Amino acid sequence: MAGNYSIGEIMIDQEQIFKRAAEIGKAITEDFEGQEVLMIGILKGAVLWMADLVKQIGLNVYLDFMAVSSYGASTKSTGAVKIVKDLDIPIEGKNVIIVEDIVDSGITLNYLKNYLLAMKPKSLRICTLLDKPSGRRIDIDVDYIGFTVEDKFIVGYGLDYNQSYRNFPYITCLVDG
Ligand code: IMP
Ligand code: MG
Repeated sequence: MAGNYSIGEIMIDQEQIFKRAAEIGKAITEDFEGQEVLMIGILKGAVLWMADLVKQIGLNVYLDFMAVSSYGASTKSTGAVKIVKDLDIPIEGKNVIIVEDIVDSGITLNYLKNYLLAMKPKSLRICTLLDKPSGRRIDIDVDYIGFTVEDKFIVGYGLDYNQSYRNFPYITCLVDG
């Protein structure tokens, strides 16, 4: 995103997100019936979506968080992933669900998936608020997808540009000019 930009129209509003959180929460509840799940939110972008989602899961849910470095102050991925905050809870033998804000190139999730699989969870699934398939550079299976978005730079509902706009209660994008 070059120098001048403004905030676009609302693409997905709060009501649509709540509705989708309820649908995916129900799916997770059914998929793991009679079991427990450990949700690992990826800071900071996934926090708003994760908060909506976990309230819709009718199981014993444990929460943990990881932070990874991704884009820095640019809108293009560097391809390098670094763990900035690691897990607090051991995941061996647990049903783990990674909660992300957006899957773009797939590099972050591919790295995290391999990192977590090495710790021998019982199962490992991925849930993302947004999927941007046009950006994909690594093929990755995503189990629960909130919404699929076009090739735009998305902000709001946890997603940032230079750490701004995370608090918007809707999903929008940056537009040139
Ligand atoms: P990936 O590794 O390219 O899949 O990117 C994953 C991370 O990049 C996400 O968790 C976001 O933090 C960030 N990201 C990717 N696309 C966007 C976007 O459109 N808006 C804001 N952040 C993005
Ligand atoms: Mg992120």
